[in-house]
Formats: sequence, C-alpha cells, structure tokens
Amino acid sequence: MVKIAPSILSADFSKLGEEVLDVEKGGADYIHVDVMDGHFVPNITIGSLVVDAIRPVTKLPLDVHLMIENPDQYIPSFAKAGADIISVHVEATPHLHRSIQLIRELGVKPGVVINPATPVSTIQHVIEDVELVLLMTVNPGFGGQAFIPSVLPKITEVRSLVNQTGKTIDVEVDGGINPDTAKQVVEAGANVLVAGSAIYNSRNRQNAIDMIKGSL
Ligand code: DX5
Ligand code: ZN
Repeated sequence: MVKIAPSILSADFSKLGEEVLDVEKGGADYIHVDVMDGHFVPNITIGSLVVDAIRPVTKLPLDVHLMIENPDQYIPSFAKAGADIISVHVEATPHLHRSIQLIRELGVKPGVVINPATPVSTIQHVIEDVELVLLMTVNPGFGGQAFIPSVLPKITEVRSLVNQTGKTIDVEVDGGINPDTAKQVVEAGANVLVAGSAIYNSRNRQNAIDMIKGSL
C-alpha cells in the first residue's frame, strides 16, 4: 500500500546504474530523481541526460521532481528521456495548469509540488488534473535535512482533497523521511515516501527500506 521512492540524490554518482539496481532489488517502488537548477533552489544537480542514462537500467517508474525555474522549457526533454512522473513546483511556474497539461500531452503522469510554507489552497484548482501531489517536508535544495513537523496537518488536508475527487492520486512526501518520521506522515495521509539519506547512507539498502516499511 505505502510506496517507497529512494532519492538518487544521496547515491554514489560514480556508479549510478548499480545504485539504482540496488534499491530496486531492495524493494523500492519508484526511483525519485531530484533536478535542481541553482536558481529555484540553491543547488545544481542533474538534467535529462541522467534520466536517459538510468532509463534502461530499471523497470521502476522514474519519478522526476523538477526544482527548476521555467519548467515548461525542459519538460519535453525529461519526457523524451523516459520519465514516468514529472512534478512541477507551484512556486516555480506562473501558469501551473499549462505546465500540467504539457506533461500530460507528452504522455507522462503530472504531479504538483508545494514547499513547506505554501498553503494547500494553491493546488485546489488543479487537483483533478494531477496524478500525484508532493508535499515538501524540508525546504528543497539538499538531502539530509531535518523533517519539518508543521507540514503534518497539510498532508491531512491534501489527503482529504484527494479523497473528495474520488480518484487515485498519490500523496507523496519528500525530505527528512526515516523510520521515525515515516509513521507520522503515513498516519497523516501520505502513501508515497521519498527517502534519500535514510536509504543511500545505509550500507544495506534493502534493510533500510525494510526499516521504513517496518516502522509503519
Ligand atoms: C530535497 C530533495 C529530496 C532529498 C531528500 O530538495 O527534493 O528528494 O533528496 O533527501 P533526504 O531523504 O535525505 O531528506
Ligand atoms: Zn525530491
């Protein structure tokens, strides 16, 4: 029922293919790909070339989290590279509905993301159009940050918004997820858990995934 989406941000990039396979074997449900541009967030990570490179390595859905300004310019290249889900931040696009439609037209599942300080009301009018809502539980930019507990009531708010639609829409959380925080976010209504450092900083990734699932 609850899905685990390891974030490759904390993987060893010198052997990324093996790192992706390792979490797939360990029971991951999605591979979470953090794309940062150094403008929307204060860090630069990877582009569509990396999605293209890991696409043939895994059968798991590639869950691409765009933390970039002007996402519409880059969405087609991520779709072409083989993304299964592409999520855009409310705070990063002035025409949210257009970005979501663009993702869907390219045959990819659209997701929408909100930062910890952004209210749930900002996604109310696009909820019917997305397949996934991602709530940031840290301020985006880096792996290994501490979970922000004040996001918990927002998770419940999103879950009830999703339930009102009667559709199957994932409620995903991202940032500071570990066996301690996982239980709280699932109780609040999340069903997809992104975890970077809690999985990749562990020597045994299967064990790390089991620890998160076992805590629920
Ligand atoms: C943060 C990224 C996260 C990050 C999570 O900006 O969106 O996906 O990798 O890392 P942890 O699980 O270490 O907080
Ligand atoms: Zn992320």
